[in-house]
Amino acid sequence: MTFEVVTIFPEYFESPLKVGLLGKAIERGLIKVRLHNLRDFATDKHHTVDDKPFGGGEGMLFKPEPLFRALETLKKQPPKPRIVYLSPQGRLLTHEVARELASCERLVLLCGRYEGIDERIREHFVDDEISIGDYVLFGGEAAALVLIEVLSRLIPGVVGCEDSVAKDSFADGLLKHPQYTRPRNFLGYEVPEVLLSGNHAEIERWRRRKSLEVTFERRPELLKKARLTEEDRAYLKHLKRERLRLYLALVHYPVVNKEGRKIASSFTNLDLHDLARVARTYGLKAYYLVQPLSDQRAIMEELLAFWLSGPGARHNPDRAEALKLVRLRRSLEEVLQEIREAEGQPPVMLATDARPLRPALPYEEAGRIIRSGQPTLILLGTAWGLAPEVLERADHFLAPIPGALDDYNHLSVRSAASIIVDRLLREVV
Ligand code: ADE
Repeated sequence: MTFEVVTIFPEYFESPLKVGLLGKAIERGLIKVRLHNLRDFATDKHHTVDDKPFGGGEGMLFKPEPLFRALETLKKQPPKPRIVYLSPQGRLLTHEVARELASCERLVLLCGRYEGIDERIREHFVDDEISIGDYVLFGGEAAALVLIEVLSRLIPGVVGCEDSVAKDSFADGLLKHPQYTRPRNFLGYEVPEVLLSGNHAEIERWRRRKSLEVTFERRPELLKKARLTEEDRAYLKHLKRERLRLYLALVHYPVVNKEGRKIASSFTNLDLHDLARVARTYGLKAYYLVQPLSDQRAIMEELLAFWLSGPGARHNPDRAEALKLVRLRRSLEEVLQEIREAEGQPPVMLATDARPLRPALPYEEAGRIIRSGQPTLILLGTAWGLAPEVLERADHFLAPIPGALDDYNHLSVRSAASIIVDRLLREVV
C-alpha cells in the first residue's frame, strides 16, 4: 500500500516513520510512504501556499492552485489514488472505515493547516474526508500519521502475529479484555486465577466474557453491530439481568404545588398502569409509589387488588405481570431502606425535575452508572415536582426533557419517565 502525503511539514513525519513496526514495514517494502512538500507546487518565488479568506475572518487558508497542482501530479502516476483530506469535518475514523480504506492500493493524504483549505478543492478534487476525532489539531499531519498507522496494522505481514490484529479491540466490534503480566502479585493486587490455570479453553472463554463486559459497560452501542455468537448473546442477557438494578419511585409526598408550597398530591390511575408497564418492559426491579395519605392508599390498593388477584388478573395477565412490580410505600425513607436491604448497599439517587435549575448529569454517564451494576433509583415528582428536601438528597440530577422547538416542556410525569428510562437504557434494550 502506498501513502502519498501532501504537507507543508514533511519533516514532521521523519522519526515516526522510522520506529517500531511501522518503520520495519517500510523497510521491508510492505508499505511505502512518500512525502510531498506542498510548497514545491507553489509557483511564486516565496512558495506561498496560503491566503486570507474572502469575507474576512481569522487565520489563513490553503490556496487552491498549489493543492490542485500537487493532486494533478500525483493522479498522473498509476495506480489511481484515492484522495483523502484530513479534517475535523470528515467522517469519523473507525475500524470499519479503516477496513474500507485499507482496500485501496494508493492513498493521497492531504494535510490541512491554519483554518483549512479552499472549499473548491474539497468539493471537486477530494474523494474522502476523514476526521480522527471530535477535536481540533493544529493540522492534518498527526491525523495522517494515525491513519497510516491504523491502516498499516491491517496489511498482512505488518504485524508479525496476524492473530493479534484479529484480537484487537474493535476487530470483531468489541473492546479488548484486560491483560496481565508478571508479577502475579503486585502491591497485593492479584492476577485472575483463571489466567494462571493453563486451561486454554477456559482462558479464551474468560477473555471473551470480559470483552463483552467491558463493551457493555463502556461502549454498549458497539454491541448492536458486533459479531456475536449465540453464547455471547446468552452471556449478555445474563449480564443485563445481573447488572440492571434499576428502580423507579413516583413521589406523591413531599412534592410542591404551583406556589412552591410543600404538599401531598393525589394519585393518577394512568401513572399506575403506564409506569408499571414501562418498568416491566425495561427490566426495572420495582416501581415504588410513595404515598402517605391513607384514603389515597386505599384507592391504590383496591385497584392493585383488582388487577393482581381480581377479574383484571384473569382478563389481562400481561397487565398483572407489570403491576406485580408496584410497591406502595408511605415514605421515601421506607423505599430507600427496602432497596438497601435487597441490594446490600444504598441506591444511587437520580432526581428528575422539569425545571432546568441544577447542573445535570448527562444521560450517557447515568447510563454508565446503571450498567456498572450499582443499584440506582430514579426519583420522579408528581404535581409541580419533588420538594427541595428530596432534591437535596439526590446524588445527581437528570436534565429535563426539553421541547424540540422552544421552552414548552409540559410532559406528563409518565411520558417524561418513559423518555428518561429509554434514554438511560437506550443502548441496552
Ligand atoms: N485536522 C485538525 N483536526 C483534525 C482532526 N480531528 N481529524 C483530522 N484532521 C484534523
